[in-house]
Amino acid sequence: MRVVSGIQPTGNLHLGNYLGAIKKWVAMQDEMECLFFLADLHAITVYNEPLALANNTREMAAALVACGVDPERAVLFNQARVPAHAELAWLLFCTARMGWLNRMTQFKEKSGKNREGASVGLYAYPVLQAADVLIYGATHVPVGEDQKQHLELARDIATKFNSDFDTELFTLPDPIIEGPATRVMSLRDGSAKMSKSDPSDMSRINLTDDDDTITKKVKKAKTDPEPLPDSLEALEERPEAANLVGMMAALSDRTPEDVLADFAGQGFGAFKPALAEVMVETLRPIRERFVALKSDPAAIDAILQQGSEKARALAAPTVAGAYRALGLQSA
Ligand code: TYM
Repeated sequence: MRVVSGIQPTGNLHLGNYLGAIKKWVAMQDEMECLFFLADLHAITVYNEPLALANNTREMAAALVACGVDPERAVLFNQARVPAHAELAWLLFCTARMGWLNRMTQFKEKSGKNREGASVGLYAYPVLQAADVLIYGATHVPVGEDQKQHLELARDIATKFNSDFDTELFTLPDPIIEGPATRVMSLRDGSAKMSKSDPSDMSRINLTDDDDTITKKVKKAKTDPEPLPDSLEALEERPEAANLVGMMAALSDRTPEDVLADFAGQGFGAFKPALAEVMVETLRPIRERFVALKSDPAAIDAILQQGSEKARALAAPTVAGAYRALGLQSA
């Protein structure tokens, strides 16, 4: 059993990343062999200012460690330091079908109206993501809901490669999308995902926000005038309320049902301060560790360097196996 997952080093880590993915990574590293990486090769599919990318990669690594990813127990690295990701991606480009990529909703969202102007990398992005997990024989891939389609594609690519070349080289990875916060929504709009790219900073909680900012953002979060109900079904038509209840559940390791049992009949005047308090208490120690770690970029580079050496060793046999399966005479 092996866990593999990644995050793009662009912008700030936000509460959606933390509750949807990173909190689970931290829990899984106690139970299984884990590899976690900064997807810097994915970040360049749209223009990223080079200096900012280098800084963001270090900062995101520091943020992951601050959240509890332990470089002693999990392998932590950045993709670009492990060339095998890009190498396997090329081999898989030749297995993936255009029709499969044409169905990817994230490409449609990210390229918007300017599809002709999007980079080839943005289009091919999910194939690199497939390489990321297949290269390590990942069995479990903990991610938020928005990555589901990409992982289904990884399974399709693995299945076709294994069948075309009569091999069992690739293990089919299982996406782990569980719990009450697999899709954390914007604080301003219950129909939009919380995201780094939302122009409004009030839409998200960043891991770097101080206590007052967090409290203010929760207080201003969009809600409705109704009190909280006693059942989840009654929240179906109330996306903003459901989002805040989901956050509360994930932050306090409870189910949304348990949260509703505590707050049924109460309005947001009572719920929001309670939510802000757990959020502040959860994020404060993470932020403090992050600030300390960030001040030592050389230490972060050393962690990534060490992690990438381990990752290179784990990746090499799969790439060699793929070359062999294809009949390529490689170095
Ligand atoms: P990225 O960088 O957008 O997000 C990192 C992780 O955070 C999750 N996430 C969310 N979960 C719940 N609610 C939200 N609002 C929210 N926003 C983000 C994402 O689902 C993800 O788990 N393509 C990936 C990075 C990647 C990857 C991989 C992941 C590259 N290769 C291989 C897994 C395996 C991405 O852009 O994630």
